Amino acid sequence: MASLSTQCLILGAGAAGLHCAGKLMLGNKGSAPKSIIVDHAARPAEKVRISGGGRCNFTNLSIDPKRFLSANPHFCKSALKRYTQWDFVNEVADRGIAFHEKTLGQLFCDDRSQQIIDMLLDAASAAGAAIWLKTKVREVRALPTGGFQVLLVREGKDITVLAENLVVASGGLSIPKIGASGLGYKIAEQFGHSVHTTRPGLVPLTFSGDLLQQAKHLAGLSTPTSVAIDCIAFDDGLLFTHRGLSGPSILQISSYWRENTAIRVNLAPGQSIGKRLIEHREIAAKKRVKSVLADTLPLRLAQAICHELGINGTLADTSNKALYALGERVNNWHIVPTGTEGYRTAEVTLGGVDTSKLSSQSMESAHMPGLYFIGETVDVTGWLGGYNFQWAWSSGWAAAQAISVKQTGN
Ligand code: FDA
Repeated sequence: MASLSTQCLILGAGAAGLHCAGKLMLGNKGSAPKSIIVDHAARPAEKVRISGGGRCNFTNLSIDPKRFLSANPHFCKSALKRYTQWDFVNEVADRGIAFHEKTLGQLFCDDRSQQIIDMLLDAASAAGAAIWLKTKVREVRALPTGGFQVLLVREGKDITVLAENLVVASGGLSIPKIGASGLGYKIAEQFGHSVHTTRPGLVPLTFSGDLLQQAKHLAGLSTPTSVAIDCIAFDDGLLFTHRGLSGPSILQISSYWRENTAIRVNLAPGQSIGKRLIEHREIAAKKRVKSVLADTLPLRLAQAICHELGINGTLADTSNKALYALGERVNNWHIVPTGTEGYRTAEVTLGGVDTSKLSSQSMESAHMPGLYFIGETVDVTGWLGGYNFQWAWSSGWAAAQAISVKQTGN
């Protein structure tokens, strides 16, 4: 069986793995690649390619640790502080990639996300990394003398890599169609790490029964909303779909949602609809309620809500009680989704490798020196809007720094 040694083996050529490889500063040790990145997919960084509608929302101007979910909300702070959004923005700008702020601090490429992938690949290659695609990870073993022996299958042939450091950057479970797998969790457990229960995040919510029929009827319609659970609320667009609800406000709240619990949807943020309708009666009593409501909501939505509440007349015909009930339905719609669309469409995976036995400085395992976990595999999940890529860049950078210092002594 062929065998090769390297200073660092990175499992996963996604956002975190490639960025980590590009930041490694390793000396030469013989003719072997300084680092090797392996991925079972045919192309690297598929999620970067499809992200942001093909334009990659690569970071956010307002990176704040409070916008990350984790059993330990402090864990992400160090890496995010040491390699910030501005560090990545500078790299993008130095590369000459044009970008713009879309909304809420979200930075997108003007052109294709492939530009970001090319930037990552060039940096990895310049740092002496070899990228092995279509390569399966068969087994990982710790060597008694330190380092790791990893059995791979590459182009149908078995190959053993002896690695002084092993970086697990294999991501989460979202979108299995393009390569997601539970490899990172399996390796974590093998080395004694706990793994927090995983669940799909940033994912559309699904309905059943009457709610589903209503959503189907309105499918394709979008409207600005504020969507809340307890004290957390997101003000952004909502989209009715053939399965339930989607749109940025729903994707955001989905990461906080648990089965059998309600979400509160305000379909007219900043307006008290019941009060407004009653006041409007003074000036336009003969106007139909649904027409007045359609000044605020899309017409089809206004019609559907009035139909649901049996309100078909003019403002004059309709009692205060009925108008307040209508206002409540618009401003404070409580719904209990049936579920989510799952990993098939989820943008991220919540949960993952428990951070309590990882160094927040270096991402290194406290159980196994030389073993690092970065990116989405770790129990750190960002909001929608470039936060998850920033975590991939920052955690990848943190591991690369630590490995470089360890290998070169500076
Ligand atoms: P990532 O998933 O990028 O990479 C993991 C790599 O490991 C993959 O290449 C995979 O093939 C490989 N791998 C997995 N199992 C393996 C195995 N068993 N053997 C070998 N290789 C294996 N975030 C954001 O900030 N802005 C955005 O615009 C978007 N948009 C977006 C759109 C869509 C559709 C999705 C699905 C996700 C996003 N995200 C996002 C989230 C973002 O893509 C995600 O958080 C990062 O890609 C995570 O980076 P990682 O490197 O950790 O995993």
